Amino acid sequence: MRIEKQEDEHLKRLLTPEETFEWGRVLGEGLGAGAVVALCGDLGAGKTQASKGIVSGLGSGEVVSSPTFGLVHEYVEGRLPVFHFDWYRMETEVEVLNMGWDDYLDEKGVVIVEWADRFPHLMPEGTRWFYLEHAGEEGRRVMEEGGAR
Ligand SMILES: Nc1ncnc2c1ncn2[C@@H]1O[C@H](COP(=O)(O)OP(=O)(O)OP(=O)(O)O)[C@@H](O)[C@H]1O
Ligand SMILES: [Mg+2]
Repeated sequence: MRIEKQEDEHLKRLLTPEETFEWGRVLGEGLGAGAVVALCGDLGAGKTQASKGIVSGLGSGEVVSSPTFGLVHEYVEGRLPVFHFDWYRMETEVEVLNMGWDDYLDEKGVVIVEWADRFPHLMPEGTRWFYLEHAGEEGRRVMEEGGAR
């Protein structure tokens, strides 16, 4: 999905990395148990930076880094545990399932998946889908799918 409308109230401009962090932080503050967050967008669009904000918004001071191939990063010091995935290098759904995907969903913490659009069928109903995009000198844009409803 491409972001087309520029003045949509649900499209946010993120001018700096700090604004991406802050956007994620506010999102994280509002997440409840069992929330699943899909972060989509090109390489370098800001998905990990947003994830750092989400973890912070949940009240954890842990240092967040991009998940290593095949590993889920867990952050447990906040209001809810966070399970952070990156599917960029995953080649099949089976690889994801073998990481214990269903068990992480059952934890009823917060699940964040970068590159979730690689395997959209694995994402449960109720997933919040966000699309980040490079916006030239303006930094980045982010939009939530279905955010206009
Ligand atoms: N709004 C913004 N304006 C300018 N730079 C930004 C913005 N948000 C994030 N960045 C910067 O973009 C770079 C890439 O960000 P990040 O690693 O979060 O991207 P990513 O989407 O996770 O990439 P990947 O697909 O490789 O996982 C970082 O240096 C980050 O600080
Ligand atoms: Mg990343």
